[in-house]
Amino acid sequence: MNGIIDRCRLFDRWAGSYDNEVRSDAGFPFAGYDHVLEEIVRLTDVESGMRVLDLGTGTGNLAARFAALGCEVLGIDFSPKMLAAAQRKVPDARFVYSGLTNRLDFLHGKRFNLIVSAYVFHEFDLSTKISILTRLSRDRLTKRGRMVIGDIAFPTVKGREEAHRRWAAQWDEEEHYWAADEAIVACEEAGLHVRYVQVSSCGGVFSI
Ligand SMILES: C[S@@+](CC[C@H](N)C(=O)[O-])C[C@H]1O[C@@H](n2cnc3c(N)ncnc32)[C@H](O)[C@@H]1O
Repeated sequence: MNGIIDRCRLFDRWAGSYDNEVRSDAGFPFAGYDHVLEEIVRLTDVESGMRVLDLGTGTGNLAARFAALGCEVLGIDFSPKMLAAAQRKVPDARFVYSGLTNRLDFLHGKRFNLIVSAYVFHEFDLSTKISILTRLSRDRLTKRGRMVIGDIAFPTVKGREEAHRRWAAQWDEEEHYWAADEAIVACEEAGLHVRYVQVSSCGGVFSI
């Protein structure tokens, strides 16, 4: 529990400087940040009017893109300061305080055409990632809905090991960066069909 509270406080402290940092950092871990967000949007085949759930919405940079395209956007996050920044940036979207591992009961039976997320799932180990995705796919997607998840990711476990050596000084040992080869196998075993595209030296997007 303390771990979650500490993590939440860390994101609260980061909220004011987050947008500048992700864009000024050309290296690990945010290289290609805007390209990753653009690729998420492209892979959704979004249409105006769609219902979009943005997981770990942060300051609302991904939510803003979908709202600008005429979608009904709901962003969730466990950092009140991130949520306040998102609401200022995207007044037309709805932002709600919630942890991603929660059951999201406040949604009642609501389902979404698109579930998206950027730079969040590395908070969870692989089995937690899969269980969140499986639950959301079963309980929160419409029949033809899809999930598109962008994050700090590498094509293979070997590529991730090389990246770990290359960026040892910046690597956060408590985070769980994706290796697409192992993630695809784990997703397929859980009944989720996945495609992966590498967008930058350390960023990629999964369509599920
Ligand atoms: C690196 S930021 C990414 C923000 C945004 N998606 C973007 O692409 O700029 C990670 C966000 O995920 C949120 N987050 C991390 N773990 C979470 C959890 N377990 N439940 C809810 N939100 C979480 C943080 O509060 C933070 O706003």
